[in-house]
Amino acid sequence: MALYSEKVMDHFRNPRNVGVIEDANGIGEVGNAKCGDIMKMYLKIEDDIIQDVKFETFGCGSAIASSSMATELIKGKPVSEAMQLTNKAVAEALDGLPAYKMHCSVLAEEAIQSALEDYHKRTGK
Ligand code: FES
Repeated sequence: MALYSEKVMDHFRNPRNVGVIEDANGIGEVGNAKCGDIMKMYLKIEDDIIQDVKFETFGCGSAIASSSMATELIKGKPVSEAMQLTNKAVAEALDGLPAYKMHCSVLAEEAIQSALEDYHKRTGK
């Protein structure tokens, strides 16, 4: 059996929503001290809806695939829904990750939560 699902390979090779949002109103950056990978998330939120989301990930293939999938899962969704996003949901949407790569999906969950926190701080919510 292949170690990585086709979806993981697809999102690793053709990551969606890569880049920077210049006028983002929620930015989060997180890292994993063990592997040294870093993920940065940019959110553009209007009327409580995630109008746009982009990411920059300096990390392994699973981290890139996880960030890509996570952005797809929250784009166009209400903030309240994005707040519920778990790393498990990201991994499931990718048709699974090897157990020792689950922490890569945790990074995606944390990056989004951190960007949402930043948004809430900025807007005083
Ligand atoms: Fe650390 Fe993938 S090995 S995020």
